[in-house]
Amino acid sequence: MSINFCGIELSGPVINASGTFDPLAARRAFGETVFTEFPFSAHVTKTITVDPREGNRPPRLWEAPVSLINSIGLPNKGLKRWTEEDLPQLVALPVPLIVNVMGFNREELKTLVEAVNEQEGVSGIELNVSCPNVETGTIVGSDPRECSGTVAAVRPLTKLPLIVKLTPNATDPAEVPKPAEAAGADAVSMINTLRGLPLHPITREPWLGGGTGGVSGPAIRAVAMSQLASVCDSVSVPVIGMGGVDSGSAAAQMLSLGAALVAVGTESFRDPRAGARISAELAAIQTSF
Ligand SMILES: Cc1cc2nc3c(=O)[nH]c(=O)nc-3n(C[C@H](O)[C@H](O)[C@H](O)COP(=O)(O)O)c2cc1C
Repeated sequence: MSINFCGIELSGPVINASGTFDPLAARRAFGETVFTEFPFSAHVTKTITVDPREGNRPPRLWEAPVSLINSIGLPNKGLKRWTEEDLPQLVALPVPLIVNVMGFNREELKTLVEAVNEQEGVSGIELNVSCPNVETGTIVGSDPRECSGTVAAVRPLTKLPLIVKLTPNATDPAEVPKPAEAAGADAVSMINTLRGLPLHPITREPWLGGGTGGVSGPAIRAVAMSQLASVCDSVSVPVIGMGGVDSGSAAAQMLSLGAALVAVGTESFRDPRAGARISAELAAIQTSF
């Protein structure tokens, strides 16, 4: 089923969620077939920041029933090295490339959007205004005026589709996308992780090096569905649904709420081919209707 998403031609509605599928690492581990039989219909990169980041102190992951709590903290090479080393390989993927970026202030975000806009082979830009694992991460994404001001600041810098990634950690997550749409966002994606605090079972100290982390996986799906339903009702731009999608059935439910695409995150850690499986399950459900 071919889909036109903000002018990007996709072979189907299932893409990866940022930060949960690294095609270059997957190719090193599993070989060339990762590239030739890519499991998603588009690739969304892990968040890129202007400066290189080490990420948060370990431990960075806590596995809980049907969920994962991460405090990764956006480790990445930084814009310059990523552009020189990773981007040339990522543009060789057989699917459209969407670059996810985060700035610690508007100037940084403008630098990122301008730089990505100049690159050949990039189909879209996702603005991560919603990471719960960095100091300022949720501020922009949880404040409608901050968020729309941020979109308005970068909108003139690119003609590429701009996707705003929303946080579920806001008083009313459905309040943010409408002003973002008015400021020029072409699409919204949701949800990022929910803030969570796992304790060490014996010491009762925070388990994660970063203190709190972001909860993902099937445990958050009902929250994602509820927020997705209100956002799909309130905006006219396309919405990418994510949060706990682990099957074709879960993907079909998000599409039935009005999502244009569905992104798979945590499930790819359990099964690196999850994207292909979920697409096949979804196609079987759609043809049986
Ligand atoms: C280990 C891990 C790393 C993540 N890194 C990023 C990231 O770099 N940028 C981003 O926008 N979201 C990041 N996310 C959030 C996911 O893209 C997604 O919004 C969230 O996990 C919900 O989907 P899921 O339940 O299918 O995992 C990360 C999630 C996990 C679990």
